Amino acid sequence: MSDTKIRVESITHGYSIGNSTIEALKDVSLNVRQGEFFTIIGPSGCGKSTLLNIIAGLIRPTSGKVFVDGTELKGPMPGKLAYVFQQPLLLPWRTVLDNVAFGLEMQGLPKKKRVSVGKQLVELVGLRGFEYMYPGELSGGMQQRVAIARALAVNPDVLLMDEPFGALDEQTRLQLGIELTKLWMVTKKTIVFVTHSLSEAAFLSDRIAVMRKRPGSIIGIIEVNAERPRDPESPEIQKVRSELWKMLKEQGQENIIV
Ligand SMILES: Nc1ncnc2c1ncn2[C@@H]1O[C@H](COP(=O)(O)OP(=O)(O)O)[C@@H](O)[C@H]1O
Ligand SMILES: [Mg+2]
Repeated sequence: MSDTKIRVESITHGYSIGNSTIEALKDVSLNVRQGEFFTIIGPSGCGKSTLLNIIAGLIRPTSGKVFVDGTELKGPMPGKLAYVFQQPLLLPWRTVLDNVAFGLEMQGLPKKKRVSVGKQLVELVGLRGFEYMYPGELSGGMQQRVAIARALAVNPDVLLMDEPFGALDEQTRLQLGIELTKLWMVTKKTIVFVTHSLSEAAFLSDRIAVMRKRPGSIIGIIEVNAERPRDPESPEIQKVRSELWKMLKEQGQENIIV
């Protein structure tokens, strides 16, 4: 029995613009284990979003393959892989509860069931009492919590998160990171998380794939063995942060923020 959830095999991807091609990814391979918190880090433009979109089945790579549970990915698998973007992308005319339950409505679940599942998820992301408010009435951090609850509503195996806290202030970002790890421990989902924050990667992850640009490729994978729950200020986590910094610097890739 293999504990591999996602296998990315020799992915190369180029975007064509007119007559030229931008080589966004070159020969990227990795394995994400079942239940793992796996992070992809690297400078802006190194191909993190491209890679995540390929794993989501939203982009077909120029070459290479992705396997989920051993089966080759041929397109999006909405019930299995759910996406959380940097912007929450909520429907402004729907309440928190109706945003969370959106996917369930699409699946044709009866209203009573939608409301009960939706309420549980709203509670899970710490928004109890806000069920009937509208996105415009919430802070950025609260909106992102709604987006996470919405992604969880269809009970996917995997959460793909592309810089989900990137638009938030540092304190909110840290707070949501802490809550995300709690949520991950309770739900036992596999998470593939993209960030360009070294601290965030060090604090959240089981393993971190470090990328470089031109060509977009993986320069190394590091394992974070610190016990959970973690303290973001602990020497262990700081050490991982320094290690990431060193890896990027050695490759001339240190121009990343945070
Ligand atoms: N739709 C697109 N068309 C053309 N080039 C793109 C497109 N999306 C991304 N790129 C280019 O591919 C490279 C990788 O982009 P991206 O995956 O967004 O990187 P990251 O998420 O790490 O910032 C960049 O050079 C970017 O400009
Ligand atoms: Mg990106």
